[in-house]
Amino acid sequence: MKILFLSLLANHFIFMKTISLKEILLHFIVLISMGSFAQNQSDRELIVIDKDWRFAFGHLYDTQKDFGHAEGYFSYLAKTGFGDGPAAPGFDDRAWRKLDLPHDWAVEQGFSEKASYSHGFKTSGKGFPEKSIGWYRKKINISQNDQGKIISLKFDGVFRNSKVFFNGHFLGTEESGYNGFEYDVTAYVNYDGENTIVVRADASMEEGWFYEGAGIYRHVYLQKSNQLHVIQNGTYVTSEIQDNNAEVTAEVTIENKGNFKGNIEIIQTIFDPSGKQVSNITENILAPDFYKTVKNTSKIKVSNPLLWDLDAPNLYRLLTQIKQEGKITDSYETNFGIRTIKFDPENGFFLNGKSIKLKGTNNHQDHAGIGAALPDELQYYRIKKLKEMGSNAYRCSHNPPTPELLDACDKLGMLVIDETRLMGINDYHLNDLKRLIERDRNHPSIFCWSVGNEEWNIEGGIVGERITNIMQGFSKSIDPTRPVTVGISSGFKSGISSVVEIMGYNYMGNGDIDAHRNAFKNQPGMGTEEGSTFATRGIYFTDDAKHYQSAYDKKPRPTFYSIEEGWKFYAERPYLAGMFIWTGFDYRGEPTPYGWPSVTSYFGMMDVCGFPKDNVFYLKSWWGNEPVLHLLPHWNWSGMEGKEIDVWAYSNCDEVELFLNKKSLGKKKMEQYGHLEWKVKYAPGTLEAIGYKNDKKILTEIQKTTGNPENIKLSVDKENPSNGNVAVITVEVTDKNGLHVPTANNEITFTIKGGKILGVGNGDPTSLEKDQFIDDIHLVAISNFEERKQLVDAANQPALDEPNAWKEAFKDRDYKNQASAYIYRGKFELKNNVQANIVDFFYKKIGVNESIFVNGNLVNASSEDSQKYHLDKTVLKEGTNVITIRASPLQKVKDWDVMNTDPGIIRIITPSEPWKRKLFNGYAQIIIQKDENNSDVIVSASAKGLKAGVLSVSQKKK
Ligand code: GAL
Repeated sequence: MKILFLSLLANHFIFMKTISLKEILLHFIVLISMGSFAQNQSDRELIVIDKDWRFAFGHLYDTQKDFGHAEGYFSYLAKTGFGDGPAAPGFDDRAWRKLDLPHDWAVEQGFSEKASYSHGFKTSGKGFPEKSIGWYRKKINISQNDQGKIISLKFDGVFRNSKVFFNGHFLGTEESGYNGFEYDVTAYVNYDGENTIVVRADASMEEGWFYEGAGIYRHVYLQKSNQLHVIQNGTYVTSEIQDNNAEVTAEVTIENKGNFKGNIEIIQTIFDPSGKQVSNITENILAPDFYKTVKNTSKIKVSNPLLWDLDAPNLYRLLTQIKQEGKITDSYETNFGIRTIKFDPENGFFLNGKSIKLKGTNNHQDHAGIGAALPDELQYYRIKKLKEMGSNAYRCSHNPPTPELLDACDKLGMLVIDETRLMGINDYHLNDLKRLIERDRNHPSIFCWSVGNEEWNIEGGIVGERITNIMQGFSKSIDPTRPVTVGISSGFKSGISSVVEIMGYNYMGNGDIDAHRNAFKNQPGMGTEEGSTFATRGIYFTDDAKHYQSAYDKKPRPTFYSIEEGWKFYAERPYLAGMFIWTGFDYRGEPTPYGWPSVTSYFGMMDVCGFPKDNVFYLKSWWGNEPVLHLLPHWNWSGMEGKEIDVWAYSNCDEVELFLNKKSLGKKKMEQYGHLEWKVKYAPGTLEAIGYKNDKKILTEIQKTTGNPENIKLSVDKENPSNGNVAVITVEVTDKNGLHVPTANNEITFTIKGGKILGVGNGDPTSLEKDQFIDDIHLVAISNFEERKQLVDAANQPALDEPNAWKEAFKDRDYKNQASAYIYRGKFELKNNVQANIVDFFYKKIGVNESIFVNGNLVNASSEDSQKYHLDKTVLKEGTNVITIRASPLQKVKDWDVMNTDPGIIRIITPSEPWKRKLFNGYAQIIIQKDENNSDVIVSASAKGLKAGVLSVSQKKK
């Protein structure tokens, strides 16, 4: 077996293109960001390969529309390397769309009432077979110098059911849309030549009841490592603190995919948060045998450790190196934190020995404009927004998150409950749980594993109990340092809730929490979901006809409670470790209490953009540490003069006095965890609140009646990350005095220079506007493809329109007796927009000395690609177009040669409209990505009747 493996490598010794400058640069950037640029040549390299993929939609069940994939006599499952259709390396993808990852094709689609409620009515996936299969292709070069290394492809997650091919070889299927996976492609590499990665994602099934996106929505990497290397997620770092020292236990799993036999050194080096080396240990072990692994555990001392905490998220770095015959051959880095966690059934949760009330939110990965394809910067943006609200904990509901979300939580100081997708005790469930824990267990932010959520079918009974016992014990076998929870919505007291280590209460209204606690005095608990309230940002009167929910924090349904009621309950009970609000941000899908045409949820403390609803200020008051005073509603109520309006103040001041146009409406005392209310007869002008602490005025808050919208204002959101290429821009309008107009809903059009817009949003749950404005690409096959021989004697040619002269092209072709030339003709349809569309014919060779005609006009090949023909609007017409190809036939060299009979494909690009979005109650958001050069980005915004806005965003260094 060994010999076979090596000879296979040797056979792939083919020279072709060298690596491009862009790839080298990219490579360099990744090495720097890994901090490994000083390392030895033979070190591990992890190269992000997100750029320059080709994409096209296939089809769920029509194999012809799926580019003929899996139609072959022998399938890719029958014979190695038999990937067909787009899975074949030679497949012609020139007409496909070019894009960069992360990518979510669902968010690019429009909306339909027929589409999935839970996925936000986007016309993709379930019920849309032509938008449920996405094909991705990418070509990479791998240098001859990499011979002998292990080359692998690493995917952080593909939604979903992905099949991956490399140079036509089937590598595997990953059903889950949330697991990371890695494939070893070493045996298939074409060194110094072209290598083709192909991914077929099938998003026809949903895993969740919430928006999940579609496609390669997380990073993809090319990894090169030594044959003797640390395996994927191969380190496990834990620590114990005694006095002023931490004993760090670093477990590493090493695999040998080569023939080396003998001793190796394992060097473990720890760097402190400032990057200074603080400890180092070298150990000698015997290398594992061929394709075997070995685990090594080192104990390393760190004196006076800087603990990972919410306000000081100190991160240490472990560098694991393998030294083989005196040379460093692998380097693997692990970020970790030193901290202690503890749940106490009487007193809740403790971080580093300090009692911490968990002020949490649940969230899905979904953002305005970009769906599930969050650039890393957006992960930081969203976690910063939550921290700004006073939140200290995040529940990844209900699936393994994108790794960068956890990095953001580690770096910004946010505790995390990390949740697996499905409960069960077989491979599908336990293996997923294992992969989740092994991937994530070094993140100091994670304080609890969640092995399930609201499993209604089993949670109250014996089956739930059995499954929980197994999943709990199983997770302890991989990470004994963290407890396990399950979010439970019914049957508190029985089933899962009677055995789960940390009781996860989903909603006070679902049972008697105190009674459960009295029955299970030794079981700590927390509110894994609470709230589930409805609010539309900037709306203060519920209007069911418009699907508007008022933003006052009211009890939403008989068995659900307001945020204030929820927090009071949890805050007053020390035995409850805290609560997680459903949800921090709105997300697509679950537009409870409405349905179509509402497309996003109403649950968020913030909308899908991260613009705050008023509840944010309630939480800031009681969760945060800063003095807060916030008044609602806005004061633009033209037509409501003299009518009573509810005015609320959210504040942590002792007292608040309210004034309308300088006249006091009374001073009120603030109850702890409460809010204040006044009934105020509307008159335009100034509503002013003054907040007192210890009888001293400490804050003033004003809501002023504004004039009409006059100017567009663009600003970079303050929560933008300080590095990276992506920025979040707030769009608003102001009146002639520069006051923000809270009721504005103008449609704004955007242009950008020096970058691109990734998406637009406004937080309106009923908006059916586009999230993205991208050119529509439509691929049209040539139909009715026919041929006739071209006779040598031109005078005797049958007339072109003589029906009997034509027969199906290539049917029963006798390759030994071909005519000297053939005329082929076929049809393609152009529906509309012939004037605006860009139409190209991507020809595939069916002969030599070709001449190509469209509707009788000779067309010429483009200068950049001799087999691409641009079809000008002067030769095209709406309806049926005829393409004619005159060519001398290709000759078979060997009898079994398979000749191309496919003439190619027509690509129709319909250019998109300009980027635009309506403001919703005063705000819209655009997410931009700067080009990778040093220029500034300029965003311009215009609208009818308003003064345009311009913003220059300067390039920040990665
Ligand atoms: C819970 C569920 C959440 C979400 C929420 C909406 O039952 O766990 O995922 O669906 O209800 O109210």
